[in-house]
Amino acid sequence: MKVLVVGSGGREHALVWKLAQSPKVDEIFCAPGNGGIAGLAHCVPVSAEDMTGLLDFAANNDIDLTLVGPEVSLALGIVDLFEEAGLRIFGPGKAAAALEGSKVFMKNLLAKYDIPSAHYATFTDRDQALAYVNKIGAPLVVKADGLAAGKGVLVCREVAEAREAVDLVMTERAFGDAGNEVIIEEFLPGEEASFIAFTDGTTVLPLPTSQDHKAVYEGDTGPNTGGMGAYSPAPVVTDELHEQVMEKVMLPTIRALAAEGRPYRGMLYAGLMIRDGVAKVLEFNCRFGDPEAQPLLMRLNNDLIDVAEAVIDGRLDTISLDIDPRSTVCVVMASGGYPGSYTKGHVITGLDKAAAQEDVVVFHAGTAEQEDGSIINTGGRVLGVTAIDENLQEAIAKAYAVVDMIHWQDCYFRRDIGQKALRRKHT
Ligand code: AMP
Ligand code: GLY
Repeated sequence: MKVLVVGSGGREHALVWKLAQSPKVDEIFCAPGNGGIAGLAHCVPVSAEDMTGLLDFAANNDIDLTLVGPEVSLALGIVDLFEEAGLRIFGPGKAAAALEGSKVFMKNLLAKYDIPSAHYATFTDRDQALAYVNKIGAPLVVKADGLAAGKGVLVCREVAEAREAVDLVMTERAFGDAGNEVIIEEFLPGEEASFIAFTDGTTVLPLPTSQDHKAVYEGDTGPNTGGMGAYSPAPVVTDELHEQVMEKVMLPTIRALAAEGRPYRGMLYAGLMIRDGVAKVLEFNCRFGDPEAQPLLMRLNNDLIDVAEAVIDGRLDTISLDIDPRSTVCVVMASGGYPGSYTKGHVITGLDKAAAQEDVVVFHAGTAEQEDGSIINTGGRVLGVTAIDENLQEAIAKAYAVVDMIHWQDCYFRRDIGQKALRRKHT
């Protein structure tokens, strides 16, 4: 069959890498793809936001199945558009994808159905928002309602900082229309984990647990990024907690969406805050996490096509996931300066040597292949060096041995990816 993957990040490289192992797949296309994906798929110069371009490409090239990576395509309604045209596509429709596309919708849904999350209030008026900040005091979290490429969440330790955050979103309109409405939310202390599952709208089939490192600097300090690394499993999610998340979060959310007339199919990703054995929802994403997809897909033994088709056809109850018991870790190598400004176009060395290492895959994100075959950095997050081994400590050692083979001018990575999980195991 012919498969199209939409997107250009490390997550999409991992999806393409996984699909390339399926005996059912004859040809893979990726729109727009990147320098690493180009080695496994035909990269098509159509943006993930170009809905008609993607539809035309799929229809004109007899694509049998499309998998969508980024949230923006889902929020723009790619799934509805493809389905109306009779094309098979994996992901939630626009109405269901509001779970990620509108945090106000998500918070109101969770409140209505009693799904655990932080206390909150929503505002379309700046003065009322500021009055509320003054009333409840810090710490608190200010969130823009709409999609803001992961930047629309401002954790504020002081009232003054929270007032500035409200003005950044509502007066300066730093996130455009995404900031028409804001949420002001209780700050939840604890440890975060990502809980990612396949669902067909009835059955929820969880992948192993994972955790990403959002902060740019070691020790989880500095500004938040898209993710500087991730590992699986995440020991913070015990078996008990796993059951709690299924019963109190994942299944009720799927039922709530169905009850609201927004049936959900695809990947459901809950970002959780865990404290004293209780998990609360920070956010929902309607897609695979990036970088969580890289360590998770490395542990998935099933043919991804079988799982995706069962989701689309509403028969996920016939599938059981076959998970590699070993541990995986992904270390993100970024352009120095990210998530602020950085320089591009530097040639990356060491990739051939890295590719020869066993049980390690170098997933590409912001890269492009030049005419002479060399690979250059073109984005903030550039590579995700992902390793599998008997335990997390071994996987970490293996990943960093390969990270140390790779170089380009001003490249930056954290040295402590996964250490949080090791510390937890040893206490
Ligand atoms: P979100 O995109 O909503 O997950 O927010 C991004 C990050 O902000 C999360 O991964 C957390 O680190 C942090 N965050 C969001 N909401 C809260 C909260 N209510 N309490 C504490 N931290 C939060
Ligand atoms: N790793 C966080 C995300 O994919 O949103």
